[in-house]
Parts: sequence; C-alpha cells; structure tokens
Amino acid sequence: MRTPILAGNWKMNTNLASATELVNAMKNDLSQLAANGNVHVVLCPPFPYLARVNELTRGTGIQVGAQNMYYELKGAFTGEVAPAMLVDFAEYVIIGHSERRQIFHESDEVVNKKIHAALANDLKPIVCCGEALETYENGETDVWVRGQIHAAMQGLSADQVRGLVIAYEPIWAIGTGKAATGAGANAVIGISIRGALADLYGEDVAQSVRVQYGGSVTAKNIDEFIVQPDIDGALVGGASLKADEFIAICRAGLKKNS
Ligand code: 13P
Repeated sequence: MRTPILAGNWKMNTNLASATELVNAMKNDLSQLAANGNVHVVLCPPFPYLARVNELTRGTGIQVGAQNMYYELKGAFTGEVAPAMLVDFAEYVIIGHSERRQIFHESDEVVNKKIHAALANDLKPIVCCGEALETYENGETDVWVRGQIHAAMQGLSADQVRGLVIAYEPIWAIGTGKAATGAGANAVIGISIRGALADLYGEDVAQSVRVQYGGSVTAKNIDEFIVQPDIDGALVGGASLKADEFIAICRAGLKKNS
C-alpha cells in the first residue's frame, strides 16, 4: 500500500513572519493528520525559511522539503545550494519543477544529475514531470511524459526508484485555475508514468512508486484526484499558502486507503 503524500510548494512566496504564521496556523491540524501515519504531509518553503519551518514542525510528524538544489557537493557555484546543506532541515527536495525547467532552463540531464545527488545525500526527491499546453493539445502527452521519465531515471537502480515520489504537473494546469480532470490525470499517471517505470524496472517497482498530481489543486477539487487508483496525493502550489485550504486538502488524503 502506498501512503498518500500531500505536499505544499510555497514557491517564491512568504517572508519570515508570514511563513511562521502559516506554519503556526496549520501545525495542530496537520500534526494530527501526520501522527497516525496514514498520510504524509510535507511543507516546502523557500530556502531562507527552511530552518525556521523545520524548527516549528519538529516532533509534529510534518515533514519539510526544499524546492530545489544543485547537484555538485560544494565549491565555486555562487548562489547555489548543495544537497548536504539541506539535510539538516529537509527530508524531501522537489526536482525538475516545470518552473525550473522553463524559466531556469534545467535540462533532463540536469534533472537526472540532481536526482542522483539527492539520493546520495539522503534526500527524497519529488521528481516533477508534465507537458505544455501545445503538447497536450497535439495529443503528445504520453510520448512527452514517458520521455521525461526515461531521462530522469537514467542510471538509477530499482531500489532507488522505489524511494522516489513523482509529481505529474501538466504545465497548462499550474496556477491557471484549470486543473486536469481526475480521470485525465489518472490516465497519464497510470499509463505514461507507471507504464514507463514498468518498462524500465518491472510492474512491481512501477506499482510501488508514489505519484502525485499537481496543478490548481484546491480543497474543492482534491477529492476528484485522491479517489483515483493511480494518484497518491498532490503537490499543491497556491492553495498551500492558505492554512484552512491546505489542511482540508491534506485531510482528503485520509480518504485514500479508507
Ligand atoms: P498551483 O497549485 O498553484 O497550480 O501550483 C502547482 C505547482 O506547481 C506545485 O508545484
């Protein structure tokens, strides 16, 4: 059984005061949810607030994730953050978010290097994939997503892959208010993502990996996704910045295996 995982990606939002306020507003409810172990809840604040969020959530069962990292271990890489710098504050790290791929030109090769570096440093990668609107409209989603999965998994062992979380985030659904349908997202995750993993590592591994949906997830539409057999949770942007909304989204995770 795959434990549902709900993660809030705060992106480049909040400041020290509002990050603190947000965690304090969600802490009690989220820790109750996390405590029974049936749902994993992860908060991914910007780098400068990782230490604070880690401190505020210690002992609550709420987990912390970073939004990015570099693949080199140390050295002359001004402005970058190494995997080993994150482990004191974070358990997870988002890798290959479409905003990193599009705005910061991260290639499939860089994404793959980052996954290797994260795993080598005891961070759990949340690996993002997803197609642009044009690809979707041309009916090329399957080929595109399979290609991203193949490229991201280069050189990884079956055991390493079992430890990954994958997030399917169609770019056209991110921040647009136009979420995919539950059935549509489930089909891409089941056929393209688990299909690619099965081709590479066999059905057993494909069925063991947790795959989230991301893109305009709200408290209103989360149920539509969480009931789908191949969807194990959500990677939430905008709605994770509102305490009540994110609590409701995480609570929906309980419906998964009940
Ligand atoms: P929104 O939930 O704001 O659409 O963002 C999704 C996302 O990119 C999460 O990583």
